[in-house]
Amino acid sequence: MTDTAFGIDFGTTNTRIAYFDGEKPIMVPVFDGRGREYSIPSVVGYINDEPVAFGHEALTLEDVIRVASIKWELDRETPLDLGNGYDIYPIDIVTAFFRYIKDVVNQAELQERELKKAAITVPVKFPYRSRENLCKACENAGIEIVDIFQEPVAALYCHALCNQHADTAAVFDWGGGTLDVATVKIDDGRAQIQVQDGQKVGGDDFDRIIAMQGLIQFKKDYPDIPLSPEDILEHPRKGSEILLLAEAAKRRLNAPNRSRALLSRIGFLPDYDIEFEVRREDFEEWVDPYIERGINCLLRTIKNTGVANSLINPVLLSGGTCNIPLVKERLQQEFGPDVIITNLPFDSRNDRQAPETDVSNATAIGAALLSVFGAEPIFSSDIGIRTAGSNGFEDAFYPIFKKNELLDFENPKQERFFVTNTQTGVARLLICDRLEQDMQPQGLLRRIVPIPIDKKETWIEVDFALTQHLGLRIHGSGQIARASREETEMFIHELNLGFNIPEDSRGLFNS
Ligand SMILES: Nc1ncnc2c1ncn2[C@@H]1O[C@H](COP(=O)(O)OP(=O)(O)OP(=O)(O)O)[C@@H](O)[C@H]1O
Ligand SMILES: [Mg+2]
Repeated sequence: MTDTAFGIDFGTTNTRIAYFDGEKPIMVPVFDGRGREYSIPSVVGYINDEPVAFGHEALTLEDVIRVASIKWELDRETPLDLGNGYDIYPIDIVTAFFRYIKDVVNQAELQERELKKAAITVPVKFPYRSRENLCKACENAGIEIVDIFQEPVAALYCHALCNQHADTAAVFDWGGGTLDVATVKIDDGRAQIQVQDGQKVGGDDFDRIIAMQGLIQFKKDYPDIPLSPEDILEHPRKGSEILLLAEAAKRRLNAPNRSRALLSRIGFLPDYDIEFEVRREDFEEWVDPYIERGINCLLRTIKNTGVANSLINPVLLSGGTCNIPLVKERLQQEFGPDVIITNLPFDSRNDRQAPETDVSNATAIGAALLSVFGAEPIFSSDIGIRTAGSNGFEDAFYPIFKKNELLDFENPKQERFFVTNTQTGVARLLICDRLEQDMQPQGLLRRIVPIPIDKKETWIEVDFALTQHLGLRIHGSGQIARASREETEMFIHELNLGFNIPEDSRGLFNS
């Protein structure tokens, strides 16, 4: 039995799984109502409080309550109302989903491989509690999480293994729930994330726009229906049904040689049919502001990297929402057609188009490879505290972790800081990161950690511990009024990380 870790990209809309077979990355196939596929809809179907259907089946079965986008419920500790009189904890929904994922892998008969260990990916801005709950859910399902990686880091790693020369690349990963962007510098055997950002907006929001337009039309057609479009969209069964119809219409109208799609369903509500035509030009008008904002997010990220747009090469597109022609067009206008990459250079099978070349799979493949080769996470910027400078005018930067330093999960750091103003009863710790000392000597402010202190306090003691969830846990206390850990502990999860590219993986996939 081979015991390597699988890479799992647990997406808002789809989940993808990859592994390394000793020579090349392989996408795990799933056989469902669609035939052979390489993504699993992240959906669970319930009857009462029993999870009875998963993935594609949960999407298509008539009589189940569908729970979609479960990933974003993971930060709540309260149960989710299924709308059928039952409440379920988000962590239990995710556990049920990962049990199914385990079955999918085990049934795929991958040379005796079983899914026991995994490296999982999370969005840059995924809340800390969600990360913890995601790992717990996996463990409840019998999957040990050996690594967590940030989604764009994993996606870019594939590229880093294929191209060793010094370059600044960008990733634009637009999925169902989030847009994640990052710039990475590949140099000296290191892949270093320079700047990353993200927005919690994705293809699911576009479905909602289409659904809403459809429901507004529906309400005009049948003014006697006592429900508002919002009420229908909120309804646990009818809401998810119309969203599914909208998603399908969105794909159809964005397909090559298509410009319109019909959203229709006979008997959508008892005795009422829904019929609504969506034209591509209308759709583009509705989503244009989101695309604009998405591209601005990428441009801002590049600007913060301090690199001219013309020097960014490549821009790696990933995620299903990048299939919308307008998204590609806009990015090509901005960067030029040769810079935009939508295929990975793995040529691993005889299939007409190997799934490993599909850039949508880059995140899962990158996670598997990072884990197998034991790529060591390093800081790609200095992280430190802004302190009052010695001259009394300018602030200074006091580094806690230095750029290129390996993440040490075993040994927390402890530092003492003098308190300059005790009158408010709170010492405010200004956490900054600093990409380039010359460009930003004081670093950029990332977070303010308030620590309650006594007015007679002179100094505070602060612990900095790195956690396995790729978070930095900060806890501080004065000496007179000791603050409890629970009271003051704070997590920072959006760290700028990079990796030492392991020797034995360098150039492995050079084409
Ligand atoms: N051909 C297409 N045209 C338009 N949209 C598409 C197409 N194919 C997929 N999508 C959309 O892409 C989204 C799913 O993308 P993806 O599978 O990359 O998301 P995800 O990884 O699950 O989400 P996230 O990364 O945000 O957590 C859905 O909103 C889906 O409707
Ligand atoms: Mg994704």
